Amino acid sequence: MNLQVLTLRRGAEECVACFSSMHEAELQSYADAVESFLSAAELAVFAGLRFAQKKQAFLLGRLAAKQALGALLEEADWRLIDIRSGIFGQPLVRHARLACAEVTVSHSHGLAVALAYPGEWPMGIDLETVSAASAPTVLDALQASAAEQAWLASGAIDPAAACGVLWSAREALGKSMKIGLNCPPGVLSLNHIERHGAAGWGARYTNFPQSRCVSQVDSGRVLSMAMPGEVDVTPWPPPLPPPSPCSG
Ligand SMILES: CC(C)(COP(=O)(O)OP(=O)(O)OC[C@H]1O[C@@H](n2cnc3c(N)ncnc32)[C@H](O)[C@@H]1OP(=O)(O)O)[C@@H](O)C(=O)NCCC(=O)NCCS
Repeated sequence: MNLQVLTLRRGAEECVACFSSMHEAELQSYADAVESFLSAAELAVFAGLRFAQKKQAFLLGRLAAKQALGALLEEADWRLIDIRSGIFGQPLVRHARLACAEVTVSHSHGLAVALAYPGEWPMGIDLETVSAASAPTVLDALQASAAEQAWLASGAIDPAAACGVLWSAREALGKSMKIGLNCPPGVLSLNHIERHGAAGWGARYTNFPQSRCVSQVDSGRVLSMAMPGEVDVTPWPPPLPPPSPCSG
């Protein structure tokens, strides 16, 4: 597992968020001891999952989320951090010392990432694996804005990676607003797409000027983070483990 403490700044205000990742290769020792880190309610959900892939994704996501929340809340006993799913699928965190901490989670090809953040600054993350095969389908579904179409046509980025950026930026904003993708994807479209660091992009949202997005393209993955427009995050991007050879 990886843990990175991020600093969030808006003007003179400053606070901390915690980013975590958990790879399937690390799962075995935890999978044998789920009672040591899942809450009673989570154990009941886990017991009800029938498929191995669902069980693995659940454990990876909960472990990444609990590592991030455990660091933010300074809670070493992860059984005391209870994460349930809300009516939109959004994570709902319960903890005795919880003031206003929230968590956002994503999984892709055997890797889960999570960001625990102060609830007054809504954030969302999404991890996608770049796929040339699925890019045409994603492109059809995006309902791309004029700014996005211009960016796609500019050739500034490989088309499959561009689709990953545009899709994950939508998911990240949808998660930060707790609606996920329960709306037409075009509602969450980008404008003002600009370079952000060597392999990254920054953008604003067409319909949500309160938020902005940063996306990092690296080793066949896209990691996007949506956050309030005036907030800066450092360091960015947080480290991710290299993709395993079989993760496609
Ligand atoms: C947001 C959504 C698209 C994420 O799906 P995904 O890409 O398959 O999965 P990711 O791994 O990136 O994210 C999953 C995590 O997002 C979080 N999440 C799910 N719905 C969320 C919501 N409404 N708000 C905030 N976070 C949400 C959960 O923490 C979930 O992980 P968990 O179940 O282990 O806790 C999905 O849950 C959703 O909104 N579905 C409804 C609409 C839909 O299915 N659209 C598909 C169009 S192709």
